Amino acid sequence: MPHEQTGAYAAAYARSLEDPEGFWSEVARAIDWDTEPTTVLDRSDAPYYRWFAGGRLNTCWNAVDRHVEAGHGDRIALVHDSPVTGTVETYTYARLRDEVATFAGALRGLGVEAGDRVVLYMPMVPQAVVAMLATARLGAVHSVVFGGFAPHELAIRIDDATPKVVVSASCGIEPGRVVEYKPMLDRALELAQHEPSASVVLQRPQAVASMGDKDIDWDELVARSQPVDCVPVAATDPLYVLYTSGTTGKPKGIVRDNGGHAVALAWSMTNIYGVGPGEVFWAASDVGWVVGHSYIVYAPLLVGATTVLYEGKPVGTPDASAFWRVIADHGVKALFTAPTAIRAIKKEDPTAALRTGHDLSSLETLFLAGERLDPDTYHWASDILGIPVVDNWWQTETGWPIAANPRGLEPMPIKPGSPTVVMPGYDVQVLDENGVPVGPGEEGNICIRLPLPPGTLPTLWNDDKRYVDSYLSDFNGYYTTGDGGSIDADGYVYVMGRTDDVINVAGHRLSTGSMEAVVATHPMVAECAVIGVHDELKGQLPRAFVVLKSGADIDPEQLQREIVDAVRDEIGPVAAFKSVVVVPALPKTRSGKILRRTMRGIADGRPEAPPSTIEDLSVLDVLRPLLRTPQG
Ligand code: COA
Ligand code: AMP
Repeated sequence: MPHEQTGAYAAAYARSLEDPEGFWSEVARAIDWDTEPTTVLDRSDAPYYRWFAGGRLNTCWNAVDRHVEAGHGDRIALVHDSPVTGTVETYTYARLRDEVATFAGALRGLGVEAGDRVVLYMPMVPQAVVAMLATARLGAVHSVVFGGFAPHELAIRIDDATPKVVVSASCGIEPGRVVEYKPMLDRALELAQHEPSASVVLQRPQAVASMGDKDIDWDELVARSQPVDCVPVAATDPLYVLYTSGTTGKPKGIVRDNGGHAVALAWSMTNIYGVGPGEVFWAASDVGWVVGHSYIVYAPLLVGATTVLYEGKPVGTPDASAFWRVIADHGVKALFTAPTAIRAIKKEDPTAALRTGHDLSSLETLFLAGERLDPDTYHWASDILGIPVVDNWWQTETGWPIAANPRGLEPMPIKPGSPTVVMPGYDVQVLDENGVPVGPGEEGNICIRLPLPPGTLPTLWNDDKRYVDSYLSDFNGYYTTGDGGSIDADGYVYVMGRTDDVINVAGHRLSTGSMEAVVATHPMVAECAVIGVHDELKGQLPRAFVVLKSGADIDPEQLQREIVDAVRDEIGPVAAFKSVVVVPALPKTRSGKILRRTMRGIADGRPEAPPSTIEDLSVLDVLRPLLRTPQG
């Protein structure tokens, strides 16, 4: 943080590092506790830090019931706006409380108790939010799986989370096609070792699913269930597990606790996003991602705001005016989406002519996150909207921004290309490969000195060792974010991109390692590397470079088709995997290790000198144009 800063942000930031217990215990007053915490930060089992130990609360109570009890039952909690079905439906806080309480009763009737897991595989319907909150109401643990993942990925998550119940829907709706979820759920349950005792299925009229012995119709179940009260749990008990891509094929189960999460999210909603009770916040993401968990569901509800749940894309339903229509119809104060959504609008409507006729006067801020905010997108959005366009940087692991512009606390000047300054509680340092902090403006590994603030992951689900190995082992006393970048002399953070095998496709985080594992199973492939190449719309797209087995004879187009189908079947359409290039060789060290980092550097336009151990430099000459050509 720069020395000359003296405002509210500087004061909050300094206090959060000098006296974290004092800072966060004051922030925690915004939350209703059944039992006050006895220890604000429990360091006794470091590096497994625990926030608000001894405290007991219920997150659903804090997000829903307490607003009704305070007399705000008529306030709108949620607006479901679904251009793909042509419907708009509103839920007051009272209605949401009633439906959540009854669905919690339904889950309890199926045997779900505190600590049990419930896996959700749902499209963007209000019932997804109801099921999340109902699970939280019981003190149980939800694990939402994004609908664009294939059955195999769902099965991996079911096996890791071992849910008592799965909640799904008959279908989701993508522009131009209905995606039947139920057959995918059935397939996942066949593939999984673990057997949940029941599946609750929401029947949607666009595709009615055929039901099996263990399937229960949502409406029928709810009709015979009674509402139940919130179950207080320990602040340190898990609220949810959200799987995210790591370097290997096995996703990481990010654990979120109840207490730290509620405290940090409520703080962020007020101080970063500047949204309070009765105001309308719209995070155009999906409940399957962390942005959906934090800023569609929990944070807006924790502060008593109205959240918009949007089922559709920014373009195509009906056209690139969709976002402007939603802002005007619901009086949205702040919109949060990924830069790729803005690029999609810009591509179809470069002059934003379709904005005409929509009253956007309610919109005060556009927040963008999930991937690097490129300058073109920043300037385009700023010019057409004439409001602050605010980048913020964070990850599934942290659950809320690491770096942002705290609009509610103290708006900071915007520097295009930077998600602004480090948020309270995060002691961010840029380290060189020896773990030594670099100077202002110098690039290195962006790391966070332990302990992490409340709301961030305390560990990985059932895998404390992997938590330490993946995040805490590179530099002693630090959490490794996996992003490279720098901090300038004013304390502004610059994030350049991942330093590992994670790529970001349309704001969706994916593992090239898991794609390589599928590509490598093709009988004609000897070896392969999957690298993210630049894409104008989605930021990055995966491209496979394959070396064929000697004597293999296959038409390249057929090979591509077969491999693309395999990745779609195993990982899902969300991988947006469409390109396979046959190359004579991959760059390797003399000991045979594929130089993926060197390939990534070329693709990202930040080529480093190849290591001296490279076997054959000329291999890179063949690859260079293929790594730099956008997808055709
Ligand atoms: N269920 C089933 N399939 C899904 C899905 C879901 N929930 N979500 C995506 N898919 C499918 C898509 O239909 C598409 O299939 P296709 O290959 O048959 O066309 C594929 O997965 C890739 O989806 P996507 O990368 O989203 O591409 P798109 O062209 O459909 O849309 C954008 C591109 C940019 C408009 C869209 O990704 C978007 O709005 N992103 C920004 C918001 C966001 O989601 N951010 C996340 C974190 S903040
Ligand atoms: P996810 O866990 O899906 O939220 O993805 C997190 C990753 O997305 C980060 O580690 C970054 O690589 C990238 N990311 C998210 N937000 C930003 C941002 N504002 N600027 C640059 N990269 C970002």
